[in-house]
Formats: sequence, structure tokens, C-alpha cells
Amino acid sequence: MTDRTILTLSRDPAVPLARNPHLLRWVDKMRQLTKPAAVHWVDGSEEERAFLCAQMVEAGTLIELNEDLWPGCYYARSDASDVARVEQRTFICSLSKDSAGPTNNWVNPYEMRRTLKAKFNGAMAGRTMYVLAFCMGPIDSPMSQIGVQLTDSPYVVVNTRIMARIGTRVLAEIDRDTKRVVPCMHSVGAPLAPGQADVAWPCNPEKYIVHFPETREIWSYGSGYGGNALLGKKCFGLRIASAMARDEGWMAEHMLILGVESPAGEKTYVAAAFPSACGKTNLAMLIPPDGMADWKVTMVGDDIAWLKPDADGRLRAINPEAGVFGVAPGTSEQTNPNAMATIRKNAIFTNVALTPEGGVWWEGMTDEPPAECLDWQGNRWTPEIAKATGAKAAHPNSRFTAPSAQCPIIDPDWEHPDGVPISAIIFGGRRATTMPLIYQTFNWTTGVYAGATMGSETTAAATGEVGKVRRDPMAMLPFCGYHMGDYFRHWIKMQRSLRETPRVFHVNWFRKDADGRFLWPGFSDNLRVLRWIVERVHGQALGRETPIGWMPRYEDLDWTGLPFARETFDALQTVDPAHWRREVIGHEELFIELHDHLPPEMIYERELLICRL
Ligand code: GTP
Ligand code: SPV
Ligand code: MN
Repeated sequence: MTDRTILTLSRDPAVPLARNPHLLRWVDKMRQLTKPAAVHWVDGSEEERAFLCAQMVEAGTLIELNEDLWPGCYYARSDASDVARVEQRTFICSLSKDSAGPTNNWVNPYEMRRTLKAKFNGAMAGRTMYVLAFCMGPIDSPMSQIGVQLTDSPYVVVNTRIMARIGTRVLAEIDRDTKRVVPCMHSVGAPLAPGQADVAWPCNPEKYIVHFPETREIWSYGSGYGGNALLGKKCFGLRIASAMARDEGWMAEHMLILGVESPAGEKTYVAAAFPSACGKTNLAMLIPPDGMADWKVTMVGDDIAWLKPDADGRLRAINPEAGVFGVAPGTSEQTNPNAMATIRKNAIFTNVALTPEGGVWWEGMTDEPPAECLDWQGNRWTPEIAKATGAKAAHPNSRFTAPSAQCPIIDPDWEHPDGVPISAIIFGGRRATTMPLIYQTFNWTTGVYAGATMGSETTAAATGEVGKVRRDPMAMLPFCGYHMGDYFRHWIKMQRSLRETPRVFHVNWFRKDADGRFLWPGFSDNLRVLRWIVERVHGQALGRETPIGWMPRYEDLDWTGLPFARETFDALQTVDPAHWRREVIGHEELFIELHDHLPPEMIYERELLICRL
């Protein structure tokens, strides 16, 4: 035990920290439903964090890491059945099935409410119910939104303290009654009978991640992991927010936001939508490669962007989050030194491996694996065992939670209440074939088409098969809170409220050669592509017109410091007619699914694309 261990609080956490009568009534109603042993109003203080962490260390949920190596850091292992988002158990319960659309699981809201009421009845028995008020976005931003999560998971509380603005300052906003509050119910679904011993990671094999878009409510049951449980993130920040945004004329997108500063000091902000585990955090934290050190990249956000036209018709974006919940495997001093610096202190690691020195490790963190460690399930792991059995030390979807403010390249305006102006939007998937490294779409509508028809290989970020190409429109397939066809329409319509639309690009860092090796070095070298993008935005870079859009020629990219063969570049940029024919058939399959809500622009764009091909 270190001197930071606190086992009692200097206040009575059961005393409400808000006066808002609606909030107090709802908390009491939910307390009666879920029957917790205690109620704890979260104030967000450092004392409270230390108290909750000490309790979780005692319960075996958290392990404190070696203070010299990882100051202020904790380690958690989840239940082996609770390791990623569960898309099959994620529901959009709009009044009509048609509003949810074919890409969402829909259940009649009345029926779902009945089910949930039964599930939540007594669900928190023997546990503490935390009243966790959180704000998505800077508290003083007109674009931010407020939620209150009632949860029986202290792990969720300490993670949300990193991922969002929480506690007293948010409760004060609720008392001022300035914004509608989104109620978020969460239980791990593991009530304790009197005297029953707890487990380190309580959860329930039956999971429900439920959204009521009309009433703007979230109910999550059975999981304590990531987007299933940190309800501000995907549930509110994307699914509920996308429905709010459609009604109110803004956009909630699965996008990183970064700034690119040229050697001349010209700053350009871009937003990029890549599916889960497809490179958002890495791009947002990019360090310029050798030869481009006079360029600068800054991070505004790494996962979610809320975008809204300002009074002058410029699209502006805020990052609704305050932390990063990033994929650990593959993160290293070579691939992402800024991430390594961000997680060096005050971080929570989940499902990585634990080293004998009280440090953490994951595949790809170092060239040399540790001689031995405990894997994400607590079993002894050695490189020899891995060689023999293929066992991974860290789960492929193991993650770190760390404050964005700790990122060395955090943008000076990352918490600006008006957001930052967005000049370009980039779409990108994980594609071994077909998709070139980079192209620019012809205009806003072709850009929307490129985003809408985006494909990507599935990853470990969600349970299910990995490596299968699926359509993932705008990287929002698992996150759009309403009919995907209406979502495309909303995108097209946004043009009308913009004086100038951002330019739209498509990238693919993951194209492979015949031997299955990546053709593109990626990571730092992605700045070469970013440079072309921002120069196109400012009318400073050339390209050639191709059937799919504008493409840089070899000589249009900055190759300083990277010996890169023209032939490899040509291979990366190939638009193979046979592959594209298959691609367009994939678009058609999505369109058939969405047909009765599909905006006509999508059909016309597809026809034009076929003609050009
Ligand atoms: P989520 O947090 O799930 O939304 O993921 P993300 O989109 O932020 O992806 P992230 O940046 O964490 O990267 C996911 C995986 O892709 C990691 O294993 C990275 O090492 C790898 N990756 C990221 N960028 C590149 C790249 O440019 N090239 C290659 N080959 N791999 C990359
Ligand atoms: C993603 O899957 O896109 C994530 C992780 O960022 S989670 O928060 O679990 O959704
Ligand atoms: Mn993500």
C-alpha cells in the first residue's frame, strides 16, 4: 500500500450533490428498482479517485502498477467473456422498426422496457450505485452534452473520470438546468446475495446495450468493458448523439480530429473516420517522419467528433471526450511514441499482460518480449509458451485509458468551446486489396458516396469474426442510432448549411502485396499523405483525374527521407477494374438493404462511378 491509499472519504457520499428535482426523483426511482446496498454521488475529486482505486485493489479488480515505472497507473483483467463491444446485443429501440433501419438490431421499445425492468430489478443488490454525472465536450462549450450514468461499477467511474468531465462541476450545470440530461442506466448484472463473495470482474453472460433514441435514454446491462459500459463513449457520443444531431442539424461522427501545421505556420484541421482498430489514435498522435521534421501535427481528438456549422457556415468540431481509450497491441516507441508518453502516468490498462516488475506489456510494445509475464487472464506466459501454443500475452482488444491532456502534441485549442474549423474529411478502411493509398473525391456528394460505401475488414474491437470485409458506412455501422439511409441523406443535406464544404478524401494504410506484406510503411509516413491532403485543400498540390477521383502522382508527394520506389507507389495506387467491379457490387448490396430510405444521389453517384470505370 502506498501513501495515496485512502480507505475513507472526508464526506458522506450518500448525500446528494445536486438539487435538481428531476434528477433526484430519477435517482431515487432507479435506486428502488435496482436495490443497491448504498448510493454514492460522484464528485470527481482526486480523493474520491484514490478511495475507489484502493477499494478496487482490495477487491482484486485493480492491481497497482510499479510506482517507479508507471506512476499512478492501474491494471485490470476483465472476465474472459467480456472483452469487446457486443454488436449482436446492441439495440436501437425506436418507436418504429423503420426508424432504426436494417443495419441496427431493433426491439419494440415497450417490450424492451419490460425486459430491462425485469433485468434491472434488484440488479445492484449488495453493490454501490454510483451517480456519475458527465459532460461530453468542454463544460463551457455550447456544443457539449450532459449525461448522468447510474452504475454499479467503480471501474466505470474511474475510467469515465479520465474519458469525460465528471462530478460536481457537471452537477452544477444540471442544477442550472441549461441542457437536457441523457439518463444512462448501467449494471454489470451481478447482484450479490447477503454474504456472497464478489469476483474481480463481475458481469453477466446475457448482455443488453440498449438505446431509446426518441426519449434519449441508454440502458446497458451485463458488461463492464469499454463501449458497452463507458456509456458516454459509443452509446451517447455516437448512437444517441447521431439521432440528436440529425434532429438539430449537426453531426456526431466516429472521427479523430487533428491539426496539421506547415513549415510556413499555416494550420489546417482535418477529421478522419476509420472503423474501430483501423488507425485513428495512431494518426491523431502522428510524429512527422525523417525529412519532414518542420511539419507539425497536433491532436484534438482520437475517436469521436461532433461537428456543427458555425454562424459563418464553417464546419467546426469538438472532441466530446477528455481521454483516450486506445488499442494497446501494436503501440510502441516506434509506432506511436506520443501514445507511449500519454500513458506513462495516471493510466488504466485493461487486458494487457502484467510483468514481474509490476509493469505492463503487450504484443508489439517491444521487439524483445519479457522473459515471462502473466497474460490477460492471469496465466503464466513466456515467449516459448507463445511459440508452442500461439497464446497472446495481451488480448487483441486490450486497451489503455489515459487523459488526452497528457498527450505531448495535444492541440492548444482542443478544449476551445467553439471547436476547431474542419477543412478536410478523410474516410479510410482496412483493405488488403482494391482501395488505393489515397484519392480525393470530386465533390461533397461523391465524398458522401465514398464514405457511405466504405468497406473494412472486421477487427477485435467487436466480438465476432476478424478479418472479413464488410460495408461500414462512415465507420458508423455499429454506431448510427437511426436508419443508415436517412443518415446518408443527413450528410448530403449538411452541404446546404455550409458556405464551403470540407474537401473529402479516402485513404487505405493497409493494402498488401501478393505475399501479404503491407505495401505502405504507415504511421509517421502517413504525414506524406496528410501533406498532400492539406495542400489540395489550399489549392497548392496537383493530382490527376481518375475514375474514382483525384490522385497524386508519384512526384506530387513529399518523399524526403523515405526511399520509396515508384513501382511500389504505383502498386499502392492501382485501381484494378476487376476489383472495383466487385467493389461496386458490394455497394449495390448495401443499397438494396437500404433501398427505401436511400437518397437518390447515392444511386446517381453509383451510376456515374460505373460509367467512369
Ligand atoms: P479504436 O480505438 O478501436 O477506434 O481504434 P483506432 O481506429 O484508434 O486504431 P488504432 O490507432 O488504435 O490502431 C489500431 C491498430 O492498427 C494498431 O495495432 C496499430 O498499430 C495499427 N495501425 C495504426 N496505424 C497504422 C498504419 O498506418 N499502418 C499499419 N500497418 N498499422 C497501423
Ligand atoms: C471502438 O471500438 O471503436 C472503440 C472501443 O473505440 S469501444 O470504446 O469499446 O467502443
Ligand atoms: Mn473507436
